[in-house]
Amino acid sequence: MSREHFSSRSTAVLAMAGSAIGLGNIWRFPYMVGENGGAAFILVYLLATLLLSLPIFFSESIIGRATHQGTIGAMKALAPGTAWRHMGLLTVLSPLIILSFYSVVGGWSVEYLLKSLTFDFQGATQEDLGAAFGGFISSTWGPLVCHTVFLSLCALIILAGVKKGIEQFSKYTMPLLFLLIVVIMVYSLSLPGASEGVKYLLKPDFSRLKASSVAAAMGQSFFSLSLGVGTILTYSSYIRTEENLLSSGVGTAAFDLGFALIAGFAVMPAVFAAGIAPGAGPGLLFETLPYIFSKMGMNLPWLSSLVAVLLFVTVLVAALTSAISMFEVGVTFLVEERGVKRSRATGLIFLGTWALGCLCSLSFGPLDGIRLFGKNIFGFCDALTANFLMTFGGLLFTLFVGWKMKKEQVRDEFTCGGQLRFSARIFPAVYFLIRWIAPAVILLIFVTNLLL
Ligand code: PHE
Repeated sequence: MSREHFSSRSTAVLAMAGSAIGLGNIWRFPYMVGENGGAAFILVYLLATLLLSLPIFFSESIIGRATHQGTIGAMKALAPGTAWRHMGLLTVLSPLIILSFYSVVGGWSVEYLLKSLTFDFQGATQEDLGAAFGGFISSTWGPLVCHTVFLSLCALIILAGVKKGIEQFSKYTMPLLFLLIVVIMVYSLSLPGASEGVKYLLKPDFSRLKASSVAAAMGQSFFSLSLGVGTILTYSSYIRTEENLLSSGVGTAAFDLGFALIAGFAVMPAVFAAGIAPGAGPGLLFETLPYIFSKMGMNLPWLSSLVAVLLFVTVLVAALTSAISMFEVGVTFLVEERGVKRSRATGLIFLGTWALGCLCSLSFGPLDGIRLFGKNIFGFCDALTANFLMTFGGLLFTLFVGWKMKKEQVRDEFTCGGQLRFSARIFPAVYFLIRWIAPAVILLIFVTNLLL
């Protein structure tokens, strides 16, 4: 059967960037930086991206492109009759757990879009805004309704088959989102007291790094690049055989990194200007942005409302494109592996993630008392996926390419049969990273984190 292909490298990079860029960059990165002490965390994050995430990215691309199939099919094709096919299960489970809490945060964005449409932030003080956010997420019904709206949107897009349409749409909204974040960053940097935030992001203080911060940096890098769950593998299966995997990997990682760093520089200076605690946790973005809009509103009320509305719309689109990429993995699995009808599969995935999402949402309010390893249900699902399941998935992908696949096949795939001169020249280093460095370091961090 002939398969569709991305028409060019830039389309492949854009599609992968669409999955990669999402709440991970805008919401999760700033709060992770804040919880883990600033610049030192960013340094570890950069190192993890270079030494661990890129090798995993290449591994997933190589498997996907070599077989032109999704995770389960690829494993069956490259390692028939082995236990590797069970990787498929991991790559279905992780995205669905991520989707549950992701949809709760998507729901918060829906609520904040509505708030900006009704000019809610104008004239409010930091105390008002902080209390409003805390009151909202700890209430029962509001966040549940918003979570339901967000997840229903995903399900509708998948059911109506307009996934392609939304991805096309995101091609236009992504640059707009980028531009808006740059505008917010410039404004945030101009606030009195912002320089403390800049220092926090640029001057590493390693004493602020917690023991768990290294694992958190690695997890954030994997989360942000959608690694270890088969998303990149599946997208790569659509890349043409003559395309350069090195540049699509580096291109996607560079986009993703740039977005995260700019989001950090948009949020953190305002955090310091407003006197918010950098370690405020998952609510950081939603306490900081309204403060920026309220300040902006004092001078330029119209511009502030316009930026607020556009920002939350574009954040929602970015969140939706990432969320759909997770939803689709589950649906494809049920359809292709279990013979379930597509509409029924969509319903089943919806119900499962909706129910777990409800528990995540309620864990900021009525279910706050339930603690798993010291975290509420939301925090537990987040850490379980980013710090363990994605890490484990990434480890298995590098082991598969480094040890199970034949070196010649890996080289052929990476260098297009030796035609790509630069890729061929750096192949030994890349292979060394995939075979030795990435698995060893991931394993080390993984085990230390378990013991801590
Ligand atoms: N990378 C996405 C983000 O940053 C999240 C994601 C994780 C998407 C795993 C797909 C798979 O928002």
